[in-house]
Amino acid sequence: MARPKIALIGAGQIGGTLAHLAAIKELGDVVLFDIAEGTPQGKALDIAESGPAEGFDAVLKGTNSYADIAGADVCIVTAGVPRKPGMSRDDLLGINLKVMKSVGEGIRDHAPDAFVICITNPLDAMVWALREFSGLPHEKVCGMAGVLDSARFRHFLAVEFGVSMRDVTAFVLGGHGDTMVPLARYSTVGGIPLPDLVSMGWTTQDKLDAIIQRTRDGGAEIVGLLKTGSAFYAPATSAIEMAEAYLKDQKRVLPCAAYVDGALGLKGMYVGVPTVIGAGGVEKVIDIKLSKDEQAMFDHSVNAVKGLVEACKGIDSSLA
Ligand code: LMR
Repeated sequence: MARPKIALIGAGQIGGTLAHLAAIKELGDVVLFDIAEGTPQGKALDIAESGPAEGFDAVLKGTNSYADIAGADVCIVTAGVPRKPGMSRDDLLGINLKVMKSVGEGIRDHAPDAFVICITNPLDAMVWALREFSGLPHEKVCGMAGVLDSARFRHFLAVEFGVSMRDVTAFVLGGHGDTMVPLARYSTVGGIPLPDLVSMGWTTQDKLDAIIQRTRDGGAEIVGLLKTGSAFYAPATSAIEMAEAYLKDQKRVLPCAAYVDGALGLKGMYVGVPTVIGAGGVEKVIDIKLSKDEQAMFDHSVNAVKGLVEACKGIDSSLA
């Protein structure tokens, strides 16, 4: 049986990490694309040369030609510019929108059957733009942010409670920006919802609030430390988790930036929601019920995403 083909669009820090992870996990053969000559070729060869020690079988190819992504089963898009300290993700909108245009058209022309996972920021608007430029079905285009934000939330909670992160579940909804909504009521330690852990005295509301704020600021915290770029290990593992769910039809329940039309009271837009990911792509958006306060925070986040999409339309008239 032929191995799946995984196309990685962008060979920067995240692209290289994705290629390495995809190979180590033997998810398929990897094509690493970038417009920078030599970079994808060099990274692909370097990772291939780690194969004998690691013991994986995967073909890795670096390329500057979209023709080489032909027939890809999965495309993970990291192309574009990361933010620098002091910038918000939204500041990248104009520059990364132009990149999404060529990436979307490249996918449309060469890999129209792929499951597309976007990592480029500002995430929700870039997922929307990628879908518009590629013309792929809505359920085959999504963004990885909810998995990343929830992973950060889980990590901070596991450290606070001094337990294995395997026993911590967490949910983050909304746009992947400052307005994101970490949902305490739907997050658990050993199956016990976080508000109950406060009532039991295992932590305090103040500590929980600080963790929620740190989750919202998670990307900026890494940007502030790295100074010359943004996070890449956790974003890459998040996208790989989604790619694996698709390729192996795992029916994973994962929060991601998906097209919502009806659920959570939304009409035809991309934003972070709980989904089921399997061989059909985003197979289901889970229509969870929110309290009045949660709904107000979610609405605020949804409106922020809508504003960014309108800004995209203002920049590129073909999107209007
Ligand atoms: C992240 O959350 O790490 C990414 O969205 C990158 C960033 O700019 O924060």
